Amino acid sequence: MLKNKSKDLSIVENTWKFDDNVANLFDKHVRQSIPHYDELQNYLASIAEWYLKDNSLIYDLGCSTGETAIKLTKLSIDTKFSLFGYDQNKKMIELAKKKIKKIKKKGKISIQFKKKDILKVKKFKKANLFYSVLLFPFLEFKEKNLLLRKISSSLEHDGALICVDKIRSTNSNFEDIFNQLYIDFKVRQKLSHEEIIKKAKSLRSSMYLMSEKQIIDLLKKNGFKNFEIFFRCFNFIGYIATKN
Ligand SMILES: C[S@@+](CC[C@H](N)C(=O)[O-])C[C@H]1O[C@@H](n2cnc3c(N)ncnc32)[C@H](O)[C@@H]1O
Repeated sequence: MLKNKSKDLSIVENTWKFDDNVANLFDKHVRQSIPHYDELQNYLASIAEWYLKDNSLIYDLGCSTGETAIKLTKLSIDTKFSLFGYDQNKKMIELAKKKIKKIKKKGKISIQFKKKDILKVKKFKKANLFYSVLLFPFLEFKEKNLLLRKISSSLEHDGALICVDKIRSTNSNFEDIFNQLYIDFKVRQKLSHEEIIKKAKSLRSSMYLMSEKQIIDLLKKNGFKNFEIFFRCFNFIGYIATKN
């Protein structure tokens, strides 16, 4: 039903944008849109433990309201690390800052959320870990390539990229099955048929999906040698990539 424009994501008829309206509803919306969202975040945070050494630097690319960073603060480790969370939307960053203030961080952890267009970052500092949950689907192909090049050149020898991405199946039958299962998932999340169709339409010109093979090729082109998937549900994948 078309009701309150500012509170109803179903109204989005134009190209999908992460604006203030989306930011305010993000934490609920993301759980209705990404299967196993919380588990996925827990897996990512646990894998991060392998790459966190004392004085590690971590980048969260497309951090939104800071959900992953908060998971990292809850790990039972005693490692000193600094994290930069970047997002282009001011409201997302405000919400992330508000959330992290309420979390009782261990003294050794420093977390800074900053409003930043990641594509405009010239060079990252040397970091042990870059992670990104569903930023890449929204980057054009040349932007993905450029960002991976910058990540690779700033990644410490034994560091890693942990990334959650959405892929396109190369087999049209599987693509069909996964897309339909994804619609079933959204229906189970109590989204209306109208909301589901409108969101899909709004994403038509703002998502740029690649196959798993294309992702691996792009990673290799940018100096990554090792690739392993740690999560898959329909066309959502979580992977780790390392250079050495
Ligand atoms: C699907 S959300 C990410 C979800 C979030 N990582 C999480 O774990 O819940 C994508 C985010 O990427 C941000 N984004 C998209 N393009 C960006 C860019 N060029 N620079 C910085 N942030 C960007 C959007 O504002 C949005 O908050």
